[in-house]
Amino acid sequence: MNFEVANLKVAIGGCILGSRVRAFKEITSTQDYAISIAETDPYSHGMVVITESQLSGRGRKDKKWISPPGGLWFSLIIKSDIKTSSSLFLSYAMSLAVCETISSSLNLEASIKWPNDVLIRTRKVAGVLISSAVRGKDLEYCVVGAGINLNSKPQGLRRATSLIEHTSQSSIRMEPFLASILNLFNDYYREIQSGNWESVATRWKLHCPMMGKRIKVVGNNIQLDGLATNIDPDGSLILVTSEGQIVKISDTQYTSIKIKP
Ligand code: BTN
Repeated sequence: MNFEVANLKVAIGGCILGSRVRAFKEITSTQDYAISIAETDPYSHGMVVITESQLSGRGRKDKKWISPPGGLWFSLIIKSDIKTSSSLFLSYAMSLAVCETISSSLNLEASIKWPNDVLIRTRKVAGVLISSAVRGKDLEYCVVGAGINLNSKPQGLRRATSLIEHTSQSSIRMEPFLASILNLFNDYYREIQSGNWESVATRWKLHCPMMGKRIKVVGNNIQLDGLATNIDPDGSLILVTSEGQIVKISDTQYTSIKIKP
């Protein structure tokens, strides 16, 4: 594939995340492959599964994720003593790492739309998918997948964009870009592991323009207006309605979420 594992290893330095890599030219989904490894290999913590293209890339809410060559499609296996209750913060850590890497490597302003869409202005450039398995009270593993439209834009998606459209570079090198994400993610993952998920949430909120604003949430059984005030310790979004009612919104509850004009 168009990705040099050796270059990634140099760029990540001694970071455990990414020290083992499985790279493919084409695969059904890095997420599904990483899940199968996490289930069978007890030493797979930190392994990255990456591919040039996916045949059945998966997005959140059972949506398809179009993954042609040119994008950065990878899944990271986390298999360590993270509290089950903090596992959702790993997905916040990933969107934060992607957002900060876009700013630092390309000098481009990116933002995050709750829960984990990374946007350039109003258009989505990256998404994060988290898959976890719990055994008893313990988290057996988490697979954190990210899809970033780096050098090619999926055709026919009106609300999507790609990073290459916003830079003067002729192509964006994947290895240093991924290394930066993994290094940042490693810092945030360590914070979460030591119980300090709040520091990750605080940093994440700085990149999420929705926080502190009035938003409208629509779902199958809900329609709510309120002020987005915080992230709950369980990872849900906290909304305060005009009647002063405090409501928690989880990823599964909504179909549309927008800042009110
Ligand atoms: C979203 O819906 O916003 C999340 C998209 C996540 C896509 C990535 S691409 C790499 C990994 N493998 C998949 O099948 N999905 C994730």
